[in-house]
Amino acid sequence: MIRTIQTTPFDDQKPGTSGLRKKTRVFMQPNYLENFVQAILFELKETNGTSLVIGGDGRYYNRQAIQTIIKMAAANGIKHIYVAQNGLLSTPAASHFIRKYGISGGIILSASHNPGGIDEDFGVKFNTANGGPASESVTNSIYETSRNITHYLIADIPDIDMDSMGTAQVLQSTIHVFDGIDDYVQLMETLFDLERIKELLKTGFSLRLDAMNAATGPYLRAIFRDRLNMDEDTLLRCIPLEDFGGIHPDPNLKYAAGLVQELMRPDGPDFAAAFDGDGDRNMILGRGIFVTPSDSLAILAANAPSAPGYAAGICGIARSMPTSQAADRVAEKLNIPCFETPTGWKFFGNLLDAGLATICGEESFGTGSNHVREKDGIWAALLWLNILAVKGKSVQKIMHEHWQRFGRNYYSRHDYEAIDSKIAQDFMHEAEEILPSLKNKHLCGLTVKKAENFSYKDPVDGSLTQKQGICVAFEDGSRIVFRLSGTGTQGATLRVYLERYETPQGNLTRDTQEALKDLILWNETVFNTKQKIKKNAPDVIT
Ligand code: G1P
Ligand code: ZN
Repeated sequence: MIRTIQTTPFDDQKPGTSGLRKKTRVFMQPNYLENFVQAILFELKETNGTSLVIGGDGRYYNRQAIQTIIKMAAANGIKHIYVAQNGLLSTPAASHFIRKYGISGGIILSASHNPGGIDEDFGVKFNTANGGPASESVTNSIYETSRNITHYLIADIPDIDMDSMGTAQVLQSTIHVFDGIDDYVQLMETLFDLERIKELLKTGFSLRLDAMNAATGPYLRAIFRDRLNMDEDTLLRCIPLEDFGGIHPDPNLKYAAGLVQELMRPDGPDFAAAFDGDGDRNMILGRGIFVTPSDSLAILAANAPSAPGYAAGICGIARSMPTSQAADRVAEKLNIPCFETPTGWKFFGNLLDAGLATICGEESFGTGSNHVREKDGIWAALLWLNILAVKGKSVQKIMHEHWQRFGRNYYSRHDYEAIDSKIAQDFMHEAEEILPSLKNKHLCGLTVKKAENFSYKDPVDGSLTQKQGICVAFEDGSRIVFRLSGTGTQGATLRVYLERYETPQGNLTRDTQEALKDLILWNETVFNTKQKIKKNAPDVIT
């Protein structure tokens, strides 16, 4: 029943910021998925793992990949294999399931917010027993194994019925098909005052929640339709589709532009949130206002005690380096630490496990807390709603009051996509070389305080992660950060992050790009970015 298949390595199986992400057809070539999965299973066995949860965001190839992984996990002797019903499991729900039931690890099939389909993207992520994405050392070890792989094991059995709950015995393994929605909904019920939110909804408060045809749809229905009695028509695009209906399930100003437009109308809804393919990202909007993810992190941290799950207060905040420093100001006022980590959720895991931080976030539409070890889109929307219900104020009012108290970090990210990889590498290299010459440089009204390639020493395990992005910090709190994306599937993407601080007494309602124009000019003058990477303008401005 167990077949041993001879194979040869693929050189390109290095996991990036969130697992291995490639074009779907790459994954579909013979042995490609199998090699990588076998490398993960070797890793799992090495750490004496006996159980595994499998699920995905429902994109094209999800179901087939799950069948393959079940057969391989059984052939590798994994005792308990948990498969989400219909193969559907959001990333935060997977993290929770692992933690709640003490599972040894999880394989989540998702390319997050990237489009799905045979000609689009697919991805495999591996989470470890703490519920979080595998650490750098684990993913490196998986990569090394994949480079030397000679064979994989697979059970010669018919496909498992993953649409009905129940158990089946295969070889030495029990396959459990479980409800991927229930446990997550129960967790949300413990963290938030759903009754209070229900009251708010009864006052005529209007909202839109957009699942973008991806994984969060069934979760939104279970919480907002079934528990909160919300009208079905406020829940948008809640049926998961294999190609996400041809859209990018990416909750940002570009790909959720319709929702943004609706909220900008004077008679628009009071609140809206959109979620990405696998449910870990979120975008928050209020009537007439877009909440930048960096501001969202700061506001959620400042007001978390409004929700029962955080009534005792928070012990610390963590943000990725390119995320604005708005959260730092909240931490300072609360007299709690604020940690600055490299990009990628995995760096928050140690801080959360050690009880050093409660709330974390990234500028890339990711916020979360110690309730799981992933970012969590629906969690963010519920915490916002819980805060709005308790404060009885509009999103806009809460934002303005926050800025009046803490000052405002004007913030924007400029992405230059599909650049030739060599050109992008050269740009980063040259930028790094001029850093020493920038010290104290004064130009465009800005004086450089510090210019470095960011490195991070983990306060828990002492591990050092280097070259995580070039950061130029100025005397007035402004910053310019450069990083190359670790999740792209075509060429290289250069991200330029711009931030400028305005004090509570300053002008808090300027246009963002206008407020950042000195920094943009500084960047072009000193780094000559556009010319060097051969681009006329950013492809996406957030
Ligand atoms: C992007 C985001 C990063 C996030 C990651 C996974 O990675 O910038 O914050 O953790 O997706 O969702 P990047 O493409 O920048 O490497
Ligand atoms: Zn995602």
